[in-house]
Amino acid sequence: MPSKIEEIKLELESYQVETQEDLEGFRMQFIARKSVIGALFGEMKNVPAEERKQFGQEVNELKNLAQTKFQNHIEALANDNSSTETHADLTLPPTRSSFGSIHPLTATRQRFIEIFERIGFNVSSGPEIEDDWHNFTALNFPENHPAREMQDTFFIQKNPDIALRTHTSSVQVRVMENEKPPIRTLSPGRVFRNEAISARAHCVFHQMEGLYIDRGVSFADLKQTLYHFAKEMFGKDTKLRFRPSYFPFTEPSAEIDISCQICHGDGCNICKYTGWVEIGGSGMVDPNVLANCDIDPEVYTGFAFGMGIERITMLKHQINDLRLFTENDIRFLKQFSTL
Ligand code: PHE
Repeated sequence: MPSKIEEIKLELESYQVETQEDLEGFRMQFIARKSVIGALFGEMKNVPAEERKQFGQEVNELKNLAQTKFQNHIEALANDNSSTETHADLTLPPTRSSFGSIHPLTATRQRFIEIFERIGFNVSSGPEIEDDWHNFTALNFPENHPAREMQDTFFIQKNPDIALRTHTSSVQVRVMENEKPPIRTLSPGRVFRNEAISARAHCVFHQMEGLYIDRGVSFADLKQTLYHFAKEMFGKDTKLRFRPSYFPFTEPSAEIDISCQICHGDGCNICKYTGWVEIGGSGMVDPNVLANCDIDPEVYTGFAFGMGIERITMLKHQINDLRLFTENDIRFLKQFSTL
């Protein structure tokens, strides 16, 4: 029996009390009637008569010790609480908190705007649900022309006049209708196309379109402006190339390529061993489009261009799957933290 008493004594002395729950645990284990010490009193009758006195004394001492400890714990806890409440330790290092980061598409859009604002462009916006005039007709898409199909349009409630905009050229029509040249505007925004989602395509993505209209704007201005952009966005050594193309709203039209950021022209699988990657479309605004917006094509000329913000971001950061932008995986997003 004495060894049992010793055991309880050791346990009692090493019992850590740091919270109210610990204190209650201590009480249940050593003080309450059904505690281990209470049980020792119950065993008294089984102890041989000649040892009973000694056993009783030891159990009593243990009980007193438990009571003293209990009181000490109560006091320590009370002091402890008041000290943490009133005296925070200001010398401790701060706890680390994690910051959010700018979404890579937002960062690209901001950079785009920064580059063009410095050469006199403003930013314009328009509705995502558009009518046929602003998305197609004003932009010189003839009715029933296959070019409309190229855009994989989402129509609203089977009304062929209302659709989700397929490009932000629709915003440029609105600007041309409401402002007089000179116009220098940048139209960022969400656009929608009925395409299957894959690593390279999405049904919702972001465009950045630019428009410059004034007297005497030429293709040389278009080239020089986009060359300036490419060097600012991708680096001084970036080369630019224009390939003839077709858009209903520009004439002549050109696809814009930059030298491959991965292999710098040597050839790799990103540029399909050509050394060039496409970043968007461009061209001189078709005179019909100017006339549709009440701008005299005999007096004014202009250029326009359009690029995908996702595509520019993928090229800039070597991201190989478009879907990453919308998955909100924090391990992906954190890599673009500016903090
Ligand atoms: N609007 C075109 C598209 O979405 C891009 C473009 C804009 C091309 C301006 C030329 C000039 O495909």
